[in-house]
Amino acid sequence: MQLEERVRADTPGVGSGLVFLDSAGSSLPPQVVTDTVIGHLRREAEIGGYRAANERLADLAEVKTAIGALINAAPTSIALSDSATRAWADFFYSVPLGPGDRVLISGADYASNAIAAVQRARATGATVEQIPSDGSGQIDLDALARMVDERVKLVSVLHVPTNGGLVNPAAEATRIAHSVGALVLLDACQSGGQLPIDVAELDVDALSVTGRKWLRGPRGTGFLYVRPELAESMEPQRLDLHSAEWTGPDDYRLAPDARRFEFWESDIAGRLGLGAAVRYLLDLGPEAVYAAIAARAEYLRKGLAEIAGVTVRDLGLRRGGIVSFTVDGTGSAEVRDRLAEQNITLTVSWASSTLLDMTSRKLESVLRASPHAFVSFDELDRFLAAVAAL
Ligand SMILES: Cc1ncc(COP(=O)(O)O)c(C=O)c1O
Repeated sequence: MQLEERVRADTPGVGSGLVFLDSAGSSLPPQVVTDTVIGHLRREAEIGGYRAANERLADLAEVKTAIGALINAAPTSIALSDSATRAWADFFYSVPLGPGDRVLISGADYASNAIAAVQRARATGATVEQIPSDGSGQIDLDALARMVDERVKLVSVLHVPTNGGLVNPAAEATRIAHSVGALVLLDACQSGGQLPIDVAELDVDALSVTGRKWLRGPRGTGFLYVRPELAESMEPQRLDLHSAEWTGPDDYRLAPDARRFEFWESDIAGRLGLGAAVRYLLDLGPEAVYAAIAARAEYLRKGLAEIAGVTVRDLGLRRGGIVSFTVDGTGSAEVRDRLAEQNITLTVSWASSTLLDMTSRKLESVLRASPHAFVSFDELDRFLAAVAAL
């Protein structure tokens, strides 16, 4: 069976006339994810949460194995989380900073990352500086190479921004950061599940991903990858009896691996659902899925560029599955709402989410269409015709 056919058959949300272009927001899960989550919730209702979890210990361990297979990491270097932001912050706040230290953030960095960086800089006396973007809109690698020195302790590299198709050269940026000993925290929230990710190739020190977007997992899930040497040596900012063991009145021992970045309590059904989503993607093949996503996004860019009054806003040399655009004379929220009336789902990305980038481009908002592999080309045509008819 062709990929599209199979994915559509596995996705209950498609085929009812909905044109779904919001996998960068919160995607439509495959049936197996919904069944896994609901099945576990039913079991919890039957026998209680603890026994239900105990029945699934092997499957729960398997969640990290599947994630490890997806990003080429050991399961022990994965901490399960409840969002990309939580995962990112769990690592970021644990990096020691002091007066004079420097934190570099990407031009298209996400608001939550930037807010955390500013808060931490205020508390520690460190500074936060923006890595300039080059003419294409991606991280300016030459400028980064000129900026770094041994006071740079952490570089926040944004893989794929929330507001456009750009894919940043993460491996190259990481090499530059490492040349001065800085840590690299990669925001892979929009790339995880979209692009094939290999942490050994990227060589990043940590990476955060959310479950509900391109991975098509449940809401309230995500994960953090931490390089093994750091997972064994870093002290997380906050601990509990799962991330550490209470060994005496004044002492504790940290969990030996990335588990030290987890708390005990969690949404077991959500985690099992995340595992099902990752296994489903592995079974389809991440390369094939990315090729399908990128082909759809390119089709949309070309189609949108041909519509009078529409401007495609995507930056970068390499482009992924997010298509950003504006419509002359019509506000983004109005376009979104008028398309919603025709059962077409896409979202608006506001300047406040990517303040540095949007301010530099004098944009208040962009429309964001993000087609996953389950969207048919007929549906893309329906969307393009609806935009043209505005
Ligand atoms: C680039 C990027 N980073 C981080 C996040 C935050 O993800 P979450 O809402 O799962 O914390 C988003 C969400 O849209 C995002 O687009």
